[in-house]
Amino acid sequence: MPNQIKQKAIEEITQANDLKKLEEIYRTYIGRKGKLTEVLRSLKDLSEKERKEKGKIANQIKQEISQMIKDKEQKILSKKDVNDNREWIDITAPGIKIPQGHLHPITLVQRQVEDIFQSMGFSVLDGPEVETEYYNFDTLNVPKDHPARDMWDTFWLKDLNLLLRTHTSPMQARYMEKNNPPLRIIIPGRCFRYEATDSTHDVQFNQFEGLMVGENISVSNLKAIIEEFFKQFFNSSDIKVRLRPSYFPFVEPGFEVDIKRKDGDWLEIMGAGMVHPNVFKAAGYVKEWQGFAFGMGMDRLAMIKYQIDDIRLFYKMI
Ligand code: PHE
Repeated sequence: MPNQIKQKAIEEITQANDLKKLEEIYRTYIGRKGKLTEVLRSLKDLSEKERKEKGKIANQIKQEISQMIKDKEQKILSKKDVNDNREWIDITAPGIKIPQGHLHPITLVQRQVEDIFQSMGFSVLDGPEVETEYYNFDTLNVPKDHPARDMWDTFWLKDLNLLLRTHTSPMQARYMEKNNPPLRIIIPGRCFRYEATDSTHDVQFNQFEGLMVGENISVSNLKAIIEEFFKQFFNSSDIKVRLRPSYFPFVEPGFEVDIKRKDGDWLEIMGAGMVHPNVFKAAGYVKEWQGFAFGMGMDRLAMIKYQIDDIRLFYKMI
């Protein structure tokens, strides 16, 4: 008899899939009026020998069944946690990441430029985007009515002697008026030119000016600094730098600087030169100093570094 009860109980427990059913099974077999309880109760009428034998079996079966019910209960409970809609929180799960976007390529370039030049002892300065004619041109050895002014197509502000700076060079005189050599500075910032746009020209762009002034500063210092910069910027020792003669009113001699990366072509990357004595004069220096200056396009650097083929993408909402 007890074995038949056992079989039946196993069957029912296996089929049960909720706690209510399980409770019912418990009541049917193990509870106060349960079948096994009844069997155990009926033992009192048997002989001592039989009572011992059957009692042992019945008790064993009772234990087995209650264990099975307990196991099944655990199973149902753990399934419930995963499947049903009850709120349940896994406090160990990582949070949901909030989308953050990323930095603009020119910001990345500017930060890197600043880091590299700071590591070489340069200070980083800021200058005004709205400039006076005086700093944008006059202090840079470009007098009024001089044809060299045509080199920069300028946005003039109406009825004022103000303009949107066409380059970062006005900061040369602004800084040197207030500071004496030796000095090493860079000035990153936005510049503007009134010209037609194409894939390599836009009405706004980002440049950084470099200026190093002291005693006995020469073209070789310029070349060494530039070379070191590009090696760090492109994280490669395979960078060649060449200077070609060029003209800017505020330097003498003046250069166009080209770079060549491993297996690449020569790329024109910036204007540079030895600071013209008239620029020192305009800044109020009386002693003779030597120094170099350069102006590099950060858009161009970003285009090369990140393989972006149109400068206008930098300023467009997509
Ligand atoms: N200001 C120049 C330009 O934007 C670049 C330059 C800077 C050239 C410093 C020489 C020295 O065209």
